[in-house]
Amino acid sequence: MASNAPIGVFDSGLGGISVVREIRREMPNEHIIYFGDSANAPYGTKTPEEVRRLSFAIVERFIAMGVKAIVIACNTATSAAVDDLRATYDLPIISMEPALKVACDRGHGLPQRVIVAATPLTLREKKFTALMHRFSADNTIYRQPCPDLVEIVEHDQLEDHDLVMATLHRYFDVYDLDTIDSVVLGCTHFVFYRDYFRELLPASTAIIDGNEGTVRHLHDLLEASHELAASDAQGGVTLENSDTSERMAVLAAKRLDS
Ligand code: DGL
Repeated sequence: MASNAPIGVFDSGLGGISVVREIRREMPNEHIIYFGDSANAPYGTKTPEEVRRLSFAIVERFIAMGVKAIVIACNTATSAAVDDLRATYDLPIISMEPALKVACDRGHGLPQRVIVAATPLTLREKKFTALMHRFSADNTIYRQPCPDLVEIVEHDQLEDHDLVMATLHRYFDVYDLDTIDSVVLGCTHFVFYRDYFRELLPASTAIIDGNEGTVRHLHDLLEASHELAASDAQGGVTLENSDTSERMAVLAAKRLDS
């Protein structure tokens, strides 16, 4: 039996729209309700308790709307809240973590040198520390917090080439980039910077994000529970934001179409 109930997707702000774009590509019949918490962004410099409280409030809102599944399109909210959310609610909750496994697996046994770019909270939480321990014996892994990359997206400065490149150089010039096998974009806001990272990094350095894997997981879960939308359903996206200004509505629509 198909389910045409919506899927709730949320993030601290606009970053999760990069995940929505991927869901639209892969699952066009689904109706997505996206909630960006831009009034409270960034999450990455908050305490885990604050992020947990904000995440629970958003999930409550989705439950009241009758969603069939929730995607936490935010590595930071995942670090702080996913275990408690799953223990509390009885519906599929799909979450994100930096795609470090994908980066390390690329070596097929050869040690990899990987930079994980994410928010300060993601990189210091125990979820990421545990993930890193699985791979650090055989690989060299650097944690690089990049909080300003979140602010640039939220302030609609993503098209400011000079600002973005100066910010990337500030974070990445400390590395000998020619020796880095891959950079993991461990924050959904950073996925919007793919072309800029391509400009910064040598051609031999891979750029990896977790969006595709997350959407595949969402698809497989809904398929297994026979809850994919009907193949003739009219999918779509409803964009909501805790910042209810017109400016934010325009900016969110722009990120969806970019
Ligand atoms: N987009 C978020 C993530 O994936 C967090 C950004 C923030 O609010 O700091 O981690």
